[in-house]
Amino acid sequence: MKNPLPAPLVPGLPPTALAPMQDITFAPFMKLVAECGAPDYLFTAFYRVHEHSRLDDSIRECIEGNESGRPIFAQLIGEDPDHLARAVGELKGLPIAGIDLNLGCPAPKVYKKNVGGGLLRDPVRIGEILARLRAEIPGLFSVKMRFGFEDDRHFEIILDLLEANSVDLVSLHARTVRQLYRGRPDYTYIKRAVERLPCPVLANGDITSADKAAEVLALTGAHGVMIGRTAVRNPWIFRQCREKFSGTNVFAPTFGDVRHYVDRLWEATGEPGLADKHHIPRMKKLLNFIGLGVDPEGAFLRNMRTAQTAAELFAVCDAFLTAKGRSSVPFATEPHANLLARPNHEGPEGCAG
Ligand SMILES: Cc1cc2nc3c(=O)[nH]c(=O)nc-3n(C[C@H](O)[C@H](O)[C@H](O)COP(=O)(O)O)c2cc1C
Repeated sequence: MKNPLPAPLVPGLPPTALAPMQDITFAPFMKLVAECGAPDYLFTAFYRVHEHSRLDDSIRECIEGNESGRPIFAQLIGEDPDHLARAVGELKGLPIAGIDLNLGCPAPKVYKKNVGGGLLRDPVRIGEILARLRAEIPGLFSVKMRFGFEDDRHFEIILDLLEANSVDLVSLHARTVRQLYRGRPDYTYIKRAVERLPCPVLANGDITSADKAAEVLALTGAHGVMIGRTAVRNPWIFRQCREKFSGTNVFAPTFGDVRHYVDRLWEATGEPGLADKHHIPRMKKLLNFIGLGVDPEGAFLRNMRTAQTAAELFAVCDAFLTAKGRSSVPFATEPHANLLARPNHEGPEGCAG
């Protein structure tokens, strides 16, 4: 039985989704992004399911505190069909659009336990998990995956399993697990999934601008796009995609807009009683992505990383974004080449999909 996706904001346009990102895509960040021009769909970061797991407060708050106005999918990661089935039960009654299974996490501490991206080596186990989850999930069942662990050897059989188990939505990150986040995405796998699967496919991986989104859609025939890191750098990306897809003028943010966004990010990442010494690292993590659009030499990134206090951090932002009439400078559409975001989680030990 096919479950239709919730209607996108503008019917007829390819839908956009904010990718799940651990330690980033919590409710305040989702709300802030939605205020800049909402994605059609949201995904929570993963809930790690094991024998003794209980739904994390942070994921529950993300779902219950979702003020973006857009439907949210809850993501699960785990290796045991029984435990995953129990987790589905924990989510019942929460205001979610559907449940998503993570088959992409490249963190060694995760994949070594045959969870997330590690499962891509074991199609038999994937089949067991999909069958069990399909039986348990009453509504939309989605899967977010990479096209393989180190190569595409199981890709076709996994596509067969997705179809056989009536998965409703597939988000495909066009990389292997071994490629982490930096190798070149190969969008031909997305094209293949689109040809092969009866359900909608969202294209994911390095969709860095509205132009790139349109290019990847044209190349792959995907139903829509899922965007992660670019949404941190440029929270207007979802409205820009809609504008591009509908052929209207695409909003061009300035450094002044970015400076205002930085203030709002500071609010979104804070909480009552949080000391600056804990707040600043959270903020720096996000500024790492924003910095890719500030100056091609990476001076903003270097200066921002050495700031010790909130005053120093904001002084760096002012110097690069508003001082000397810079407010009206256009924010780069694409990230500057050769700069690297280095949020503490963006290494092999950290990220999750
Ligand atoms: C900091 C960070 C955390 C992430 N956490 C998750 C996660 O919890 N679940 C998941 O499926 N993918 C996770 N991912 C992967 C993203 O959802 C996405 O697939 C990946 O970043 C590629 O898309 P992009 O190029 O648009 O960022 C994470 C990525 C980053 C950078």
